[in-house]
Amino acid sequence: MTRRRPLHLLRRTAEQTGQRPPSSDDAAWAESWLTSAEASIFHRMSNADRRHSIAVARRVACHDSSDAVTVAAALLHDAGKAVDDLPVWERIGATCLGGRRARWRRYLDHERIGISFLLEVGARPEVVAILRGTDTRHHIVMAADDA
Ligand SMILES: [Fe+2]
Repeated sequence: MTRRRPLHLLRRTAEQTGQRPPSSDDAAWAESWLTSAEASIFHRMSNADRRHSIAVARRVACHDSSDAVTVAAALLHDAGKAVDDLPVWERIGATCLGGRRARWRRYLDHERIGISFLLEVGARPEVVAILRGTDTRHHIVMAADDA
C-alpha cells in the first residue's frame, strides 16, 4: 500500500465527509465516461466516494496524457470501498492501525475488490488494466488521487 501524506489524507477525508450526492451536472459528466456496466458499479459507491472520484477524474481529464478510459478508471478507482462503506473514523482507523478487523482488512483491500466488481460486470479491459497497474496510465490516476 502506498504511504499517503498527512495533508493528502486530511483533504481526502474532507472530500469524503458528508452524504450529499454529487451535483446533477457532476453525475451526468461522470456517467458520460462510463459504459452502462461500469456505471452500475459507480452507482454502488457512497455519495461521498462518488464525489471524491469525480474530483479525481476531473484532475485526470486535465492531464495531457489522459484519455477516456483513464478518466473512467479514475471514476472507478475506489469502487471496492462500496463493499462495506465504512464511516470516516473507521477508514482512518484502518489506515493508521492496519487490518485489525475484517471490515478494515476489506477496506485496505479495496483496490482488488473493486477490480473484481468490474470484472463481474464486464468493464472494459483497459479500465481494469489501468486499475491493476499493468497499464502505464495507472500512474496518472494515482497522481490525481494523491494530488
Ligand atoms: Fe481515492
